[in-house]
Amino acid sequence: PIQACLFDLDGVLVDTAKYHYLAWKRLAEELGFEFTEQDNEKLKGVSRMASLDILLSVGGLQLEDNVKQELAERKNNWYVEYISRMDASEILPGALEFLQQCRENGLKTALGSASKNAPIILQNTGLTPYFDAIIDGTRTSSAKPDPEVFLLGASELGVPSEACVVFEDAEAGIEAARRAGMRCIGIGSPDTLGEANRVVASLGDVSVALLQQLAAE
Ligand code: G6P
Ligand code: MG
Repeated sequence: PIQACLFDLDGVLVDTAKYHYLAWKRLAEELGFEFTEQDNEKLKGVSRMASLDILLSVGGLQLEDNVKQELAERKNNWYVEYISRMDASEILPGALEFLQQCRENGLKTALGSASKNAPIILQNTGLTPYFDAIIDGTRTSSAKPDPEVFLLGASELGVPSEACVVFEDAEAGIEAARRAGMRCIGIGSPDTLGEANRVVASLGDVSVALLQQLAAE
């Protein structure tokens, strides 16, 4: 049976994509080009520096590493300012209820996020107490689709991969889960998340019964 749930943060528990977008767009404007919401889709689940590379390629710019470091820092300062105003009202539909259900059913929980800002976001939204382990972008050396973040989460929980289910909204995250040997539920559209074992619109559509059904497959 399933013993643990591993959650991505951005796009699964909270909608921070809009704040990442505001900050990247502001940076692009300073650099003199436009960055659309459609461009922003390519940044979901992607690390900060890899996101900057994608943004710069949209603007047709090639910059030195030290300049890139400075730009990433500038973007992050704006982002941190936006998320400092977040509260529990920004938890996505069904997320809190499902985390509570995990607790009531004795399932362990871990966060598995590429974001170095994950702990502040959990704190501001009041979600920290719902996690037995928190793996954020400061604790891994390889980004999704590398399975490191989920393998580390499972090992901290002391649960084998085959007893874990991952919740992800990004293709790279689904691939990471599969490479970790874990079952995976995609949150979003089947068009992009087809590799997941199941795809649902939100955590409101997930139950502990569904997890045990997955385990039996
Ligand atoms: C998540 C988000 C990405 C973001 C990354 C790094 O994976 O989906 O959009 O770039 O985290 O976040 P950070 O807060 O460390 O810049
Ligand atoms: Mg995500």
